[in-house]
Amino acid sequence: MRMRRKKHGAERLAACGELILPDGFVIPADVFGSDAPVMLEIGCGKGDFICGTAEKAPDVNFIAIERISDILMLAAEKVAAKGLENVRLAVMNAALLDERFPPHCVDRIYLNFSDPWPKKGYAKRRLTHRGFLEKYRKILKENGSLFLKTDDLPLFEFSAEELTEFGFVITDMTNDLHGSVYAKDNVMTEYERNFSSAGKKINMLRAYLKGENNE
Ligand SMILES: C[S@@+](CC[C@H](N)C(=O)[O-])C[C@H]1O[C@@H](n2cnc3c(N)ncnc32)[C@H](O)[C@@H]1O
Repeated sequence: MRMRRKKHGAERLAACGELILPDGFVIPADVFGSDAPVMLEIGCGKGDFICGTAEKAPDVNFIAIERISDILMLAAEKVAAKGLENVRLAVMNAALLDERFPPHCVDRIYLNFSDPWPKKGYAKRRLTHRGFLEKYRKILKENGSLFLKTDDLPLFEFSAEELTEFGFVITDMTNDLHGSVYAKDNVMTEYERNFSSAGKKINMLRAYLKGENNE
């Protein structure tokens, strides 16, 4: 996602105060003051999905990470405007997840419209490459899940293969999310809205990590 640098970005991010996780180690139960389930969105963009999902599930705690601070700031301002108390956000690269979070503290990971990195030489940058799955395994709880949506079929097929080889079990899968039974509860992301208005079909899968593969 390319965007012009926002004026006063750092000040606007700082103004979101306690919504933003400080640098360093993050213990979700300390951050939220509760042991409620923790769901993590990686690459949250401008925050439509995290806001819509957190509104529907006030008893769940949500963390949204995004590597570009000016984009994360827009998501944080949305969360603040809605007064959502069950969301925190961080400017963070997914590559650091296993250093920033304690082991086995996340119930579910959401990957929405991750960058496809179509060139073979860049496969390691895909957020479903096994290098990233290794990090997710460390922070996911036993039988923790991963929900993925993308318009990009090659990325979808790559992801399904990587997940399966890695020990995830795919429980739900569709190449037409909006025409499926899953449409009713679906919360759209910014990219999803754009792609579907342009007539693109949305692929979706849900998988969980089998207990014996969680160590
Ligand atoms: C194509 S956009 C999709 C945004 C949003 N999820 C949506 O569906 O509208 C991908 C987002 O993931 C972020 N991203 C890509 N790689 C990342 C990484 N390694 N760690 C954190 N965020 C990342 C990008 O900065 C970008 O905002």
